[in-house]
Amino acid sequence: MHIFKIKEEISKYIDDKKTLIKAIGFVPTMGALHEGHLSLVENSKKSNELTVVSIFVNPTQFDNPEDLKKYPSTVNQDLESLEKAGVDAVFLPTTDEIYGGNVVAEKYDFGNLDKVMEGQHRKGHFDGVATIVKLLFDIVKPTNAYFGEKDFQQLQIIKNMVVQKRLIINIVPCAIVRESDGLAMSSRNVRLSEKRRNEAPFIYKTLKEASKLSKTKTVKEVYNFVSECFDKNNLLKLEYFEIRDETNLSEATDFQLDKNYRAFIAVFAENIRLIDNIRLF
Ligand code: PAJ
Repeated sequence: MHIFKIKEEISKYIDDKKTLIKAIGFVPTMGALHEGHLSLVENSKKSNELTVVSIFVNPTQFDNPEDLKKYPSTVNQDLESLEKAGVDAVFLPTTDEIYGGNVVAEKYDFGNLDKVMEGQHRKGHFDGVATIVKLLFDIVKPTNAYFGEKDFQQLQIIKNMVVQKRLIINIVPCAIVRESDGLAMSSRNVRLSEKRRNEAPFIYKTLKEASKLSKTKTVKEVYNFVSECFDKNNLLKLEYFEIRDETNLSEATDFQLDKNYRAFIAVFAENIRLIDNIRLF
C-alpha cells in the first residue's frame, strides 16, 4: 500500500496508473476508521481496479473548535486496517498541504439543501465539506467516489457540488453500517461514556418505530411520537427529528405515495452529537 503526503506525488501515481486501468475508486474519510468506512472501501474494490482512501480531518467543516480538537485520531491503526482491506493508496496530507496558509471554505449556493438540519445546526459545515471534497477530487480524479448514507445530507450536497462544478465523477451511496445493537457506527461513538453508549441504541430503535408508524399515521403524529419518546429519556437530548423528501430534502407535510421520505435525527449524549436516519415505508 502506497502512502502519500504530497498532492503532486499522489496525482502522479494515479496519472501513471490511469493509462493501464479503467476505473479509480475513491473513499474520502477523516480517519478513526471503523467498519462503516471499510464497507465503502469494499464497495470501491468491487468496481474499481484501483482504490484510493484519504484521511484528513478537515478544519473548514467544523463550526465548533472543541469538536475539531477532540476529533479522534488513530492513524497507525487506520493504515493497518486499510492495508488489510486491500487499499492501493492512502492520501494523508497536512492542513498546510491542502490549504496552504488559507484555511477557508469556498462559498457555495446549495439552495435548500444546506439550510436545514446539519446545515442549520452547524453553520458553514457544508461549504467546508464541499470545499475539501472538491479539492480532493481534483487531486485524485476518481471515476467513482463512495459516500455513506449515514451522512445522507452530505451525500446530497456532494451530488449537487459535482453537478455545479461539472465533474464527471460517479457518486456512489453506501448503506449505513450499524453495531449489533443498532447504533450507527461513528468515529464519535468511542467518546461516549459507558452509560450513554448503552443508551445510544435508543436512537435507532425510535427511528425504526417511527418508520413503522409512518405507514398508518400522519407526519405530525410521527413527530409527536418521537418527541415524547425523547422527553422521557434523561440521557439523550433530541436536537431535531425531521421527515423530509429524500431527493430535495424539503420537509414533509403529509405523506404522498409517489415520494420517497427519510426521517433524520440528531441527538446529544452529553456533549457528543450523534446523527442517524432511516428510509420510511
Ligand atoms: P467521515 O465522518 O470520516 O466519514 C467518511 C465516510 O464514511 C462518509 O462518506 C460517511 O458517510 C461514511 N460513514 C461514516 N459512518 C458510516 C456508517 N456507519 N455506515 C456507512 N458509512 C459511514 O464524512 C466525512 O468523514 C467528511 O465529511 C468527508 C466527506 C471525508 C469530508 O471531510
